[in-house]
Amino acid sequence: MRKSIFLTRFLPLLLCVVFPLYLALRGSTSLSDIALLLSSLSERVEVLHVAGTSPLAAPPAPLSKIAFEASAEPGKPPRAPEGGRSKIYPSLPDGLAHCINSFEQYPFLAEQVLQRKHARYANQTPAQKAISNKLGYPTHFENARKGIDVNARFSEQIAHIAREKYHTGQRALEDEEDAEFGVVDLAFGHLSRDWSTQGAKERQAVFPPVLDGLEQHFGGNGRGKKVLVPGSGMGRLASDIADLGYDVTANELDYGSILTYHLLTNHTSSLHQHTLQPFVTKWTHQANPSSRYTALTVPDHWPNKAVKLVEGDFLDMFPRDGEFDAVVTLFFIDIGTNVVDFLSNIHRLLKPGGVWINLGPLKWGTHTALQLSAEEVLELADMLGFDVDHTSRKSIDSLYVEQPETFLKFIYGECLAFSYEE
Ligand SMILES: C[S@@+](CC[C@H](N)C(=O)[O-])C[C@H]1O[C@@H](n2cnc3c(N)ncnc32)[C@H](O)[C@@H]1O
Repeated sequence: MRKSIFLTRFLPLLLCVVFPLYLALRGSTSLSDIALLLSSLSERVEVLHVAGTSPLAAPPAPLSKIAFEASAEPGKPPRAPEGGRSKIYPSLPDGLAHCINSFEQYPFLAEQVLQRKHARYANQTPAQKAISNKLGYPTHFENARKGIDVNARFSEQIAHIAREKYHTGQRALEDEEDAEFGVVDLAFGHLSRDWSTQGAKERQAVFPPVLDGLEQHFGGNGRGKKVLVPGSGMGRLASDIADLGYDVTANELDYGSILTYHLLTNHTSSLHQHTLQPFVTKWTHQANPSSRYTALTVPDHWPNKAVKLVEGDFLDMFPRDGEFDAVVTLFFIDIGTNVVDFLSNIHRLLKPGGVWINLGPLKWGTHTALQLSAEEVLELADMLGFDVDHTSRKSIDSLYVEQPETFLKFIYGECLAFSYEE
């Protein structure tokens, strides 16, 4: 008891007052640093206090276990660690609790990203810091915190709606270390590409070749044809295909995307209703600092509610052979552990005469069994029974979840249609 009184009453006092004064007296820290330190400590104390009192909030994870400054380039979805940790609520699908926790704890996780940046800034010599201050560097911490507040309102809504949808009640979900900045960061990146006006340029590069491929295959007469979009991410492509009259099933396993898409589709009453600043913790590759504070509003278009979303692994969720007239994959085939499984499954799910349209990179991760070249992917498709339509082959320069005015460019792409005749 005495120990806990010491921790709750005197430790914050020590951190907030005595320690900064000590630094000032030593002359190694300027008053503006102390003001910043005090503000960040008071926020931290507040977070710790909330964590200690709210039944929902979990205490912070140790730095080594959590948030990295994740990039939102196409990559593997952050997943809940598998194995080694027992599932406390086995009734929830894999990865769901992890994602709800991550959305709920976003303000704290993002603050930790800032704290690490601040520690590196504060660790400079007084002369270096004076120069950084002349550059106005400390204002970035204040501005970023405002952006984090904006994002926090949105991420808390996502978590709240998710708790309602999956009937989790208000209980804490899994252990307190189970939250990850990357989950929210990735979801915000995908959201901006799919559902903001700023993402239109990227969508314009990759959606039309896919939509044209479908229309060509069905001779503009695809109304009611069944189309599967595995790895549908935030769902914009699936929605645009449905807008053309197709009967679309989207499939996704990452709950970061699923929960955000759910809020957008089922709990949004006006276009541009939600505001976010997805780049507020990303400070690299920038022509000028203002781009990191870019605010986006979503959705810029109504998600098509006729799309059916199937949650779970594409390899497990569709037992019936020959169910679809078309399968469309966008930035997808290089993401699984074995491309042979992915392509065989696509082939199995198509009706004879169906078409598979693929667009995306071959950015194999180190976890994949095979890292094939484009030629080898075509050969594999041929071996599995696809008829490759070489005339449909298009080289496409496409960007993916690009930060405004960034120096960093990833260019991806090739679009191809594979038909399956029997
Ligand atoms: C690079 S993202 C692309 C998302 C979307 N197609 C787009 O273009 O924005 C790949 C997506 O595939 C999902 N994914 C990976 N493996 C999957 C699987 N086995 N079943 C369903 N979805 C999967 C990931 O969660 C991720 O959302």
